[in-house]
Amino acid sequence: MPEQLLILTGFMGSGKSSVGKILAERTGFRFIDLDAEIVAADGRSINDIFASEGEEAFRALESNQLEKVLSSGEGRVVATGGGAVISGRNRALMRKLGVVINLKATLEQVLARLDGCCDRPLLAGEDAAQRAKTLMDEREQFYEDADIRIDTGGKSVEDVAAEILCRLKGLLSERTVR
Ligand code: S3P
Repeated sequence: MPEQLLILTGFMGSGKSSVGKILAERTGFRFIDLDAEIVAADGRSINDIFASEGEEAFRALESNQLEKVLSSGEGRVVATGGGAVISGRNRALMRKLGVVINLKATLEQVLARLDGCCDRPLLAGEDAAQRAKTLMDEREQFYEDADIRIDTGGKSVEDVAAEILCRLKGLLSERTVR
């Protein structure tokens, strides 16, 4: 049942993992972080995978792991990596197997949240803010491809989780009626 699989998408720093953990607690579902699954399966850090094999190889590992995670049992909250939505196949799979919940954040919010982080290879080095803006703009069309979109601006992670649960109830009753 898609209702048993809650999939969080959103840009780096949008709060997917923090909100996902709260959602898992509230629903009794298991929390799964896709990046952590990739690292556990591959044995290297995300930084090391990008450094030694590049983004394309990382995307292949990500898609592979996403498919595994989405197909294994019920009752899960999955926090995806910010770029998992780039692949049309990934998006179609997520929409088919679960409820896709996108967390929207502004550029300023994500930059503030990611300040001092060194585990985001796509934002390493100079011009991180400009690169984040470009990526965010390019990906907006993919983030839009969601069952539920939540604006996280000015809200605590608890508020965001509560809003998701409320919107989920609405979505599920709509689906039952139809
Ligand atoms: C990426 C986001 C990261 C991680 C990798 C690439 C992206 O995950 O998968 O660094 O392309 O946006 P988070 O969104 O959890 O930071």
